[in-house]
Amino acid sequence: MSLDMEILTALRAAGEGAVSGAEISARLGVTRAAVWSRIQDLRELGYEIEASPHSGYRLLSVPDVLHADDLLSRLSRPRIIGRDIKVFRETTSTNDVVEKLARDDVAEGVVVFADSQSRGRGRLGRKWMSPPRKGLWFSVLLRPLSLMPAQATQLTVMAAVALRRAISEAGLEPRIKWPNDILINGRKLSGILTELRAELDRIKYVIIGIGVDVNLTQSEYPEELQDAATSLEIELKKPVSRPELAVAILNELETSYAALMAGDFSKLASEWQRHCSTIGQHVTVRVGEHSVSGRAEALGDDGSLLVRSEHGHLERVTGGDVKLEKT
Ligand code: BTN
Repeated sequence: MSLDMEILTALRAAGEGAVSGAEISARLGVTRAAVWSRIQDLRELGYEIEASPHSGYRLLSVPDVLHADDLLSRLSRPRIIGRDIKVFRETTSTNDVVEKLARDDVAEGVVVFADSQSRGRGRLGRKWMSPPRKGLWFSVLLRPLSLMPAQATQLTVMAAVALRRAISEAGLEPRIKWPNDILINGRKLSGILTELRAELDRIKYVIIGIGVDVNLTQSEYPEELQDAATSLEIELKKPVSRPELAVAILNELETSYAALMAGDFSKLASEWQRHCSTIGQHVTVRVGEHSVSGRAEALGDDGSLLVRSEHGHLERVTGGDVKLEKT
């Protein structure tokens, strides 16, 4: 653990109370001057820390910044997701950063956040708007060795269930649109981009890229997204703390990934179906040049969408873009 992380952990453990400089320096084995200097640096980052000669240090408020040490200090251990966290001010795409780490044989669970992305990407080659400090733009490296490449969609289902749970903790009722969109009142709040490197019978690694629109205001969306997209700030009518939401999502991802690796996909799938706005609807799914139309009946055991076509065939759709048809 770094010094910042240890100091923040000690301050948090004291809750509303204070912790003395002497106690922190004894616990961490550094001088009181070193503690004071780190406290000054944390203050510069926006942490409001009261320093009283009698009682010591007290954490009054945390800023809306993503600070790797702070996020790490708020996650329980041992864990896989968030085992290590890196935060960039700007990058092309956090999926690219994680891809490089994966090629360097970094262990699963590392999470990379960026305050902004210059080439954020969505599914099907689309762009993903990622303005500075307005959302959570991050990617997670997974090495699910027990899954076959054909089951990789299960990871997107797992991530969607985790995301939906974390967002509902903010007091909203998000719905899932197959395969990976989180919607509020029919507008997209969040998306997942799952990228995979595999051999025929073996997954080498999977990168789960997640984008959540947190504090965008209506006027910050371009014209073409005004009706289709929304943010937590728009829905809740108040700004939301990005670090708090990040911690909630990483905790839910830890729980659902553990469930998936323990062979519990069916439980995740039923939770997914309970909150899905696609099942039971008449849909048209575009898959490349083809399209499949019919009633979305269920989620397949590999994470695919089972669509009953007009001719009565049950089609298994593993990718593509779903359009809900009016009936
Ligand atoms: C979609 O709904 O089309 C998926 C959007 C995924 C966006 C996230 S933001 C973090 C990560 N980096 C990217 O370039 N894309 C994903």
